[in-house]
Amino acid sequence: MQVRATELDDAPALLGLYQRVAKNPGGLARLEAEMDIGYIEGFLSRVQVAGLSYVAESETGNLIAEMHAYSPGIECFSHVLSELTIAVDPQVQGAGIGRQLFLTLMRHVVERCPGVVRVELIVRRSNEKALRFYESLGFQREGELRLRIKNPDGSLEDDIPMAWLREQAGYPPP
Ligand SMILES: CC(C)(COP(=O)(O)OP(=O)(O)OC[C@H]1O[C@@H](n2cnc3c(N)ncnc32)[C@H](O)[C@@H]1OP(=O)(O)O)[C@@H](O)C(=O)NCCC(=O)NCCS
Repeated sequence: MQVRATELDDAPALLGLYQRVAKNPGGLARLEAEMDIGYIEGFLSRVQVAGLSYVAESETGNLIAEMHAYSPGIECFSHVLSELTIAVDPQVQGAGIGRQLFLTLMRHVVERCPGVVRVELIVRRSNEKALRFYESLGFQREGELRLRIKNPDGSLEDDIPMAWLREQAGYPPP
């Protein structure tokens, strides 16, 4: 497995990856049916302007994980990386690939993006695996967005905003 910077040509393979990950409810916000090439190309173009994206590629050349974050695009948020999203193929979740991808991207932020002071994401309350994962990587909970998520069964749940702050967290996390 190798981790490398994402390329625009990865879009079709990324669509397959995001569709496989979205099959399991409770993780990514988008449903499988809402994963289309426009979504993938949309975040890749935002990344190109002001963001970062890395993929994990298996020895056989398959994309098995992707992570990205980008600046919202206006001056007052130019020190912020937002919309952080990470997706690991269900067949290889829990094997350390997400952590490796995360550490690679955050090391890039720390060492090569001195202007980035804040990295932020939102995760639904019931995604305890991801909440613990982000906390172990130096992100802190910043409150709750009440009933922001509607689940496929119609139930509503809170979204939890989290952030890594350069001045507080340092990197890598302890
Ligand atoms: C959440 C996700 C990105 C984590 O990536 P991963 O490669 O599966 O995780 P890793 O194997 O690197 O494990 C990292 C940490 O996650 C937690 N974790 C991983 N698998 C877990 C499991 N099955 N049960 C509980 N915790 C688990 C652990 O805290 C682990 O820390 P450790 O290394 O100290 O054991 C991945 O599972 C995923 O893509 N899930 C579906 C999509 C999703 O939820 N994205 C985030 C939306 S906000």
